[in-house]
Amino acid sequence: MASILQKVLQEYGNKDKCKIQDPTKVEAILQKLVNDGPSKLQVITDFDFTLSRFHKDGERCDSCHGILDHSPLMPDSFREKAKALYQKYYYIELDHKMTVEEKIPHMITWYRESHNLLIEAQVSKQKIQEMVISSRALLRDSAVNVLSNLNDHKVPVLIFSAGVGNILEEVLHREKAFFPNVEVISNYMLFNETGECTSFKEPLIHMFNKNETALDSPDYFQHLKHRHNALVLGDSIGDLDMGSGIHNPGALLRVGFLNDKIDERMDSFINNFDVVLVDDQSFDFVNVVSRLVCGQPLKQ
Ligand code: TMP
Ligand code: MG
Repeated sequence: MASILQKVLQEYGNKDKCKIQDPTKVEAILQKLVNDGPSKLQVITDFDFTLSRFHKDGERCDSCHGILDHSPLMPDSFREKAKALYQKYYYIELDHKMTVEEKIPHMITWYRESHNLLIEAQVSKQKIQEMVISSRALLRDSAVNVLSNLNDHKVPVLIFSAGVGNILEEVLHREKAFFPNVEVISNYMLFNETGECTSFKEPLIHMFNKNETALDSPDYFQHLKHRHNALVLGDSIGDLDMGSGIHNPGALLRVGFLNDKIDERMDSFINNFDVVLVDDQSFDFVNVVSRLVCGQPLKQ
């Protein structure tokens, strides 16, 4: 009899893009996910370049920060300073020769400086909406279907993002994807009475503290304490810990989207994520797995 993993790969159809170090382990996880069904499942996903695309038509897409960094509605001085920060720190974020511990102080400095630039630029709520509408922040193909389907099956989805909460919410609204099953934990801008950003909500979430320590609402996992199984979706090694707040974890399938610096980061992704999707700009794999768990026919 064909294994569940074989069935998933066949339906997914992009076997070349899918790397799995330990198929036996993945098969066991899939079997438990399917046997336990949607009532035991929760989904935890990163936003930037996980739920959203990394590129389209040969051009890079925008992250939450990228929307502002590239917008003509922001002052030139802001764009220049933001670009300089990005050029300095993004390479540190991805440097496969540095340990996470070595990177963390640099990442905190990046976030503090970047948030200060946004406060200095007095970015307003209304401008955010305009910038999102005209941006290149795009959700992955079939991501909206997956979110809608999970909502139909009452499977909670946590978007755990080290981007900017107000901005990613606007993207979800624009795509009509902010379903009632979606919760967001992220960095939120706080505004004054005239609608300008004056500070950010604490605690700061950066790409390497996405675990219980970054939750200011530990109730989130408490409410879901009967849901032991999870799909944990990310595009960074820092996303692996996003499920650390789950009570008595059962079957956790960690899926890594490997978008950038593919050759250098392949080993670390394969060693850490259960499934690695190499330069796949769709949510098709997640769609297949979630449909199987929800007991739905695979073809829509
Ligand atoms: P995440 O996708 O893990 O939530 O992380 C957010 C991404 O945002 C991470 O790759 C770093 C990036 N970022 C920027 O592009 N510009 C910035 O100013 C900051 C602070 C982060
Ligand atoms: Mg990301």
